[in-house]
Amino acid sequence: MAKKVYVTRPVPEIGPKMLLEAGLEVDGSSEDRVLSREEIVENIKGCDAVFCLLTDRFDAEVMDAAPGLEIIGNMAVGYDNIDTAAATERAIVVTNTPGVLTDATADLAWALLMSITRRTVEGDRWMRAGTWSGWGPMQLLGGDMAGKTIGIVGAGRIGCAVARRSAGWKMKVLYNNPSPRPKLEEALGASKVDLESLLRDSDFVSIHTPLKPETEHLIGEKELSLMKPSAYLINTSRGPVVDEAALVEALKEKRIAGAGLDVYEEEPKVHPGLIELDNVVLLPHLGSASIGTRSRMSQMVAENILAAFAGQVPPNCVNPEVLDKRKAL
Ligand code: GLV
Repeated sequence: MAKKVYVTRPVPEIGPKMLLEAGLEVDGSSEDRVLSREEIVENIKGCDAVFCLLTDRFDAEVMDAAPGLEIIGNMAVGYDNIDTAAATERAIVVTNTPGVLTDATADLAWALLMSITRRTVEGDRWMRAGTWSGWGPMQLLGGDMAGKTIGIVGAGRIGCAVARRSAGWKMKVLYNNPSPRPKLEEALGASKVDLESLLRDSDFVSIHTPLKPETEHLIGEKELSLMKPSAYLINTSRGPVVDEAALVEALKEKRIAGAGLDVYEEEPKVHPGLIELDNVVLLPHLGSASIGTRSRMSQMVAENILAAFAGQVPPNCVNPEVLDKRKAL
């Protein structure tokens, strides 16, 4: 009997097509919205694999709805939406999609950095409101970028790609990461520093750490108070890494110059305080949202599922300790 895969939302067709062509039974939601927990529980019954998204929560109870589940293929690099310990206990492989979205996400971090610094979104609002009365020497003056210091919090693939892009502005690079990044130091003269020094000395702070219990609210009131009043905070990682309420206060009181956010503490909700402010640019979690990237992500999920079904180690398994459990089955 063909193995069954459930796809939780319409995704670029390449992934589901690969699964179908491999002879699998592929079922999926045809609605372009996040399914409720109850819907997921109902729809994954009897499935061997789930092709899911970062907006789908997979905890122990959800997993128990599909006792035959072999693999949860998440179409995202972050997998904080999945309780990996519960998956491992149940011998379920969890995979993600690293690498293919590095450039797209680094580009978006820079898009935010540039748009908040040079106030381009405010400018766009002026134009659309029809209130622009012509060029003015004091209009919408923003910050400078060339030769400034960028601080990378979390120098993984994406953090390093953001740092590399800063060479175009001849920026000094500081980074905070559990392990050193000799290549970054060699190529860019980057320095590994503690978080406090990074926050104190950077003109731009860009966050790229995964969301884990120890990174939740990593940037709160105390950390924001260390930043220069002329500095900007960019977050393209996960919303809960930043204490949004503390950020609103810091932006309101102009204790930092501005922020560019792609992620929020309780997506899709946005802290109402942020909406009222001009010194923040808000994007709807677009980090990996390029046509080529999303297509490659969809393909990678399929590759992972197919590898698992072939009894191989999926290329992007994030809970390798599960493999012994699977062998023992
Ligand atoms: C996007 O946020 C991802 O984790 O892929």
